[in-house]
Amino acid sequence: MAKPKVLVTRRWPVAVEEKMAEVFDLTINRDDRPLAQSDLTAALADYDAVLPTVTDRLPAPVFDLPRARTKILANYGVGFSHIDTEAARAHGIAITNTPDVLSECTADIAMTLMLMVARRAGEGERELRAGQWTGWRPTHLIGTKVSGATLGIVGFGRIGQAMAQRARHGFGMRVLVYNRSPVAPEILARYDAEQVPVLDELLPQCDFVSLHCPGGAENRHLINARRLDLMKPTGFLINTARGEVVDEHALAKALWFDTIGGAALDVFEREPQISDELMGADNLVMLPHLGSATRETREAMGLRVLDNLTDFFAGRPPRDRVA
Ligand code: DGY
Repeated sequence: MAKPKVLVTRRWPVAVEEKMAEVFDLTINRDDRPLAQSDLTAALADYDAVLPTVTDRLPAPVFDLPRARTKILANYGVGFSHIDTEAARAHGIAITNTPDVLSECTADIAMTLMLMVARRAGEGERELRAGQWTGWRPTHLIGTKVSGATLGIVGFGRIGQAMAQRARHGFGMRVLVYNRSPVAPEILARYDAEQVPVLDELLPQCDFVSLHCPGGAENRHLINARRLDLMKPTGFLINTARGEVVDEHALAKALWFDTIGGAALDVFEREPQISDELMGADNLVMLPHLGSATRETREAMGLRVLDNLTDFFAGRPPRDRVA
């Protein structure tokens, strides 16, 4: 039987590319530049499986073709708000993602960001590299203590829980949780956490708010000007979820006018573009979407895609089917 024809839209860890090539008739986008929407439409006509990432935008118009050959979009990443799931469904295309394997590393980067912004690590490094450090003094770059502070976690799935684990058991933080559905008491008990039913009630109580909810239309601008105003004037916002969850313009205003203490972002509304108003904010730490960027995790993500594809083409339900 002919091997399924599979398109990998970006470069992946070589070890995974090699394994994939043994099993599938594999095409890799060796230039490693994001594909244009017209390339993605052409791919849907030509390949049995397309393996996109967050840099591939697949809104409804991409699916505007008479007949798709593609049967599965096996996304490399847990978030899939870049894919119009309804449009895929209309062509009978299944969608899978790669949960679990990136939870720890994404929580690690959220923790990194929280510590960096609270302890002004970005500002300190910029000062030192600019040759402007004049030496130790009791009043230099005074930050905010993280240990023992109150952390609000928005979205209590696997990554939110990994964050709670670090915060509670590593830093003795008090953990408050906002989640759309009720969280089982035994899960909350693992982190001595308390669920707050309304986001607007959680925000004013927190020294740090860390976002771990999905992106997409339903959470677009969940954190807007009104909700930023509900945060403590000393509070910090951390976003490792999806850029669209935060209204960046409102955030920039809050940072410029010091109505919150600071923010730290790994994801942005228009990646990889960063607005000038964010670039100029000193009380902001920014990383280039590094949440899952460790060798171990990126390989595990690729292997998870391989498992999903193998099951799918063997006629078994892939474990990570999301649509
Ligand atoms: C994820 O897995 O969702 C990462 O943000 C990369 O897409």
